[in-house]
Formats: sequence, C-alpha cells, structure tokens
Amino acid sequence: MRKLAIAAICCAISAAASVPTVLKLDASKDGAPVQPTMYGLFFEDINYAADGGLYAEKIKNRSFEFPNALTGWIPFGKVSVAESGGPFERNPRYVTLAQEPHNSKHTGLQNEGFFGVSFKKGEEYRFSVYGRHGQSGPATIRVELVDPASKGESMVVASAKINVDKAGWSKYTANLVPGKSVSKGVLRVFLEKNPAGSVDIDHVSLFPVDTWNGHENGLRKDIATALADIKPGLLRFPGGCIVEGTEIPDRYQWKNTVGPVENRPLNINRWQFEFQHRFSPDYYQSYGLGFYEYFLFAEEIGAEPLPVLNVGMVCQYENPDPKVQVPVDSLDEYIQDAIDLIEFANGDTNTTWGGLRASMGHPEPFNLKFLAIGNEQWGPEYVERLEPFVKALRKAHPEIKIVGSSGPSADGKHFDYLWPEMRRLGADLVDEHYYQSAEWFRDNAARYDNYDRRGPKVFAGEYACHPRGRKFNHFDASLLEAAFMTGLERNADIVQMATYAPLLAHEEGWQWRPDMVWFNGDTVNLTASYFVQRMYARNKGTNVASLLADGKPLTGQDGLYASAVFDADTDTYIVKIVNINKEAAPFEIILDKLPKKAVLGSVECVAMGPTSDPDANYYSADMLGESVIAAPAVEKRSARLSFTVAPRTFALYRIPVQ
Ligand code: AHR
Repeated sequence: MRKLAIAAICCAISAAASVPTVLKLDASKDGAPVQPTMYGLFFEDINYAADGGLYAEKIKNRSFEFPNALTGWIPFGKVSVAESGGPFERNPRYVTLAQEPHNSKHTGLQNEGFFGVSFKKGEEYRFSVYGRHGQSGPATIRVELVDPASKGESMVVASAKINVDKAGWSKYTANLVPGKSVSKGVLRVFLEKNPAGSVDIDHVSLFPVDTWNGHENGLRKDIATALADIKPGLLRFPGGCIVEGTEIPDRYQWKNTVGPVENRPLNINRWQFEFQHRFSPDYYQSYGLGFYEYFLFAEEIGAEPLPVLNVGMVCQYENPDPKVQVPVDSLDEYIQDAIDLIEFANGDTNTTWGGLRASMGHPEPFNLKFLAIGNEQWGPEYVERLEPFVKALRKAHPEIKIVGSSGPSADGKHFDYLWPEMRRLGADLVDEHYYQSAEWFRDNAARYDNYDRRGPKVFAGEYACHPRGRKFNHFDASLLEAAFMTGLERNADIVQMATYAPLLAHEEGWQWRPDMVWFNGDTVNLTASYFVQRMYARNKGTNVASLLADGKPLTGQDGLYASAVFDADTDTYIVKIVNINKEAAPFEIILDKLPKKAVLGSVECVAMGPTSDPDANYYSADMLGESVIAAPAVEKRSARLSFTVAPRTFALYRIPVQ
C-alpha cells in the first residue's frame, strides 16, 4: 500500500498548483570524481557495539578476567578462582570446578551473556572451553543451553557432554542445537558426578556456527549483513574516544587486539562510566573483534579501512590538564605502533607483523591506504604530538594518507586553530565532527560550497542530527541529514569521506543516541538514518554533476535541497532531492547539453517519506516508495523531466543515458 501511495505522489507528472522549481543539469562535462571512500561507516565500541553486538561471542567475561573474576557468572557448588597459571599468559586466571561430596549437590557455573544468551531453534552453536583434569583423572563436564523462564517440564533446551581427558590444557568443543528459540537464556556448565574428579577451565565460549562468512571467531551475521548492504566505501575503526581512553594505560592499543583470541588482554571500556545516568558496570573490551577481524571485514564488504590511532593523548574532556599527556619526547612507542600497524596490514609475510597477519590466515596484504592519528584532540598539545608522527610516517610510508583532527566541533576556537595547523603539517584529510541541532543541519547544506580548496580534504568523520528535545532516532532528523548530505555530494571534490556516528547500539545497553543501527540479542532494527546513508552510498556515482536552480545550487531555498552525480559505470545521472516542507514540491529537471544522439531510459525513483508515528525509532525497506517515470524524450540534446516530490521526502531519481 505504502509503496503505491508514494509512487503516485513522487512520480506523477507535475500537476501541482505551485510553480515548479527548475533544476538545470549540465550534461556537457563530468564534474569532480566522487571518491570510492565517500560514504562509509564509523565503528566504535560504544553501546555494546563489539562485545554483545557485532562480535558474535555470547559469553560475557569468558576468560574470568573482569576485575571481579565472576562478573556475569553465577557459581554453584565448589568453584574457585586461581589468579594465575591459566593457559594464556595475558589472561592468567582460570576456574576450578571440584566435586560436591553430597550426591545431590552440583558444581558448576552459569553465564548470563550480554543481556541474556539468546539462541534460535534449530541453529547450531559452537561451545568451546580450555580444560585440564585434576589429579584424580579424567572428568566430564555437561554444557546446557537453558531457558530459565521455561514453563515446560525442563528448562534445558540443548545439552552436550565433554570428557576432559587430558592433564594438560587443551581445547574442547561441542556443538549444540537448541530445540527452542530463547531470547533471555543462560549457559550452564556442570561438573558431572561420574567419573569423579575436578577440572580446571578457562576461555568458555559460545558462538553461532552461522556467523558472517562463517568465520569461527566471527561477527553476527544479521548485523554484519545490514552493514554490508549499505555498500560502504570506508570503515573507520576503532573510534572515537575509545582510541584515547581515560588514562594512558586504558587507551586502545591495537597490538593487544591481534594474535590468538584467547590471549588478548581485557581492557575497560570508557563508555562504562562516561555517563553516570547510563552507567554500565559490566562494559569491558575483550578485543575478540580486533584489528585482524576489522581489516578482514572491511575487505569483505569492499570498504577501505581507516584505522584511528592514539597520538599519545588521553581524552581531553576527562583530562583538561595538558601535563597528563604523554611527553612529546616520549612518543617513540606510539609512533612505532603506527608504523607496525602498517606492517601488520601491508607488510611482507617475512616481517614480524606481516608474518603475524599471515599466521592469522591472511598472507595477502590488506592494502591499507589511510591512517588517522588522534581522534577528537585539540590545542597545541595535539599539534606538537601529531607533528613527529607525520614526519616519521612520511619518511617510512609516504604512500599512506594521514588524517588529522579539527577537534570536537564544527566550528569555534579549536576548529579555527586546528585547520591552519593541519594545512601546515600537510595532513591529507581533516576529520570534522558535528553532532548538531536540526537548525544547523537545515542551514548548512552550503557549508562546503566555498571551502578553501587548497590543502587537506575533508573527512566528515562523525555527524548526526540531534534535534533539541528529540535526541533519538526518528525520520525528521534523518530527513535533515539527507538535506545536509546534498552539500557533501555537491562538494565531493573536497569532501572525500563521510561517516555517520555512532553506528551501532544495543537496545538494552546504549550510552549514546541517536545511532544508525539498533539490535538486541535476536534482531536488528534499522533507522531512517540508515536508509539515508544507504541511499547515498549505493548511489554515489563516479562524478559530481552540475545541478543549478536559477544559476545557484539548491541548498535550502524554500526548504528544498538538491544534488546530482553521474555514474560512469552505468551511464546514469542520479539526482537527489530533499523537500523538508509540509507541502509537496513540483520540480522540473532540464538535462541540458546531452551527448549527440543520446536517448534517455525510463527513470527509477526511490522516495523516503515520513513514518506515521513521528517518534518511531525504526524504519524499514518496505517503507521506501519505488516507482518508474516514463523515459523523457530528448530534443536538440535536451530533455525535461517533471515530477512532484511529496511533503517531507527524500527522493532520488536514476536517469539512464542510452
Ligand atoms: O560517537 C560518539 C563519540 O562522539 C565519539 O567517541 C567521539 O569521537 C565523539 O565525541
């Protein structure tokens, strides 16, 4: 129904009462190339985006390394924690399960997962554990997937037994197929009574077998697929403020996130405590989704990786005193980390870090081209630290493009100081962040029209519309993002990357909103902002096309916005129009100076209109109106296309040239 309604509105030959806005598209020349990196994704482990989110592991605190060794676990019977001696040097703790003397009593552990352990009927889950038996010989453990709220006779929905038959640490696995779908399940590990004996266990893990691309240490398929569907050209990782940390030891260190997953040391997640009103005491980083998994995912979805590394500074919001930052003459380790990351990504397999990449399963290079140094840093303290990085990187890796920061906001003191400094240092791109009001997004579609074209390009690295009093996901915010993005597209000669932020949020564990994609243990819920990003990314074209109303770009005059690109791969013009008004807006596009003998094909239209509930958080693909306009006739190398854009609608038109 909805599809038909929108089709009728957006594609009706114009019969509206008001005067159409006439847009002239100059087809005589290709404008600036639109970079393949233009529309991308910004991943940060905020809102349980990694552990409990994209990373498919279902067990919380699997290595017992949280400050309280049993966070997430309920022990029963004779359970003890050893502080050291486990099989993994950097995760030294392990747990011993010993027999209860009375036959009716049990020993074991129960894990609550991330807001519950969810599992689906008929799907396969891989349980794994490192174990060794005690002195009295082999011992058996029983693993169960449990529905604690079950009204049936048994709460157990799947179970398996594992015989721990070695005295030394070994990995044991068992696959479980639940007979029932459960959202808020738990995992139980019992020490069996017979044969008697004790067992030591560590790194208790449960993954769906069906992960993204079937990787064992893999990503949740539904979330990864939603991200891949955008067809992003860029994947920024791992943040965000998480790069900085609150204190130097808890900054993000990429070297802790590679190599065997069991031996990656735990780190606190700064989003645990950032907002006291959204405090998340069990938020840590296992680094199961580390730099190898990141590079691999970027490659698999066709996105250029853009790592962000610590510049020797902790979060300046939390540490306003410049003296707490790493002294400028002590940055060698940090600079070496950057150089080593390039080796990990691109180096020969006979190098230290290239060899590690190969041993993890990817001998071919990942072809890293970009590196950001520092997240939202500001002031001379940032510049004086960035400078030695730039010098060292230019010398060691002149092929890598360096991204610098313009601070935490779209303008103001830090921004005005940093842009000239980035020019002076020769940064290739400058990262701009704007979480701004509805009015700002409405009024800033021309932001880049007169930007200084000399020097670094722009990376709109974090942005989202945060309407005052309505700072959550809804259609109105996304419509203004779409309007603003016409200005990114028109200025693709200078804006070469753009990533909405943040990307992911767990419905029960978020700290920050709005976010592009929401999820719980079972499902993924997409937002209108997601579809705006998807429409742009899938229709980015190859070159900007000149599109003018009365000789000027349409940047919000009368609440209307427009931009256009040509896609040389499909010989198609793609026009994007946003109407933020409550009234429909008639348009005429004159395609002028078409190639001799050019013929146009029928025009595909996709329109994104408002949700019936204005506060609805989610949006779905079946709400997009799709329709076709008959091929416009070409006369004297010119064609005219008339249509009406519905009230409060983002519409795009694909006009093929045959
Ligand atoms: O996207 C959330 C946070 O916003 C990022 O971590 C930070 O860079 C910005 O302040």
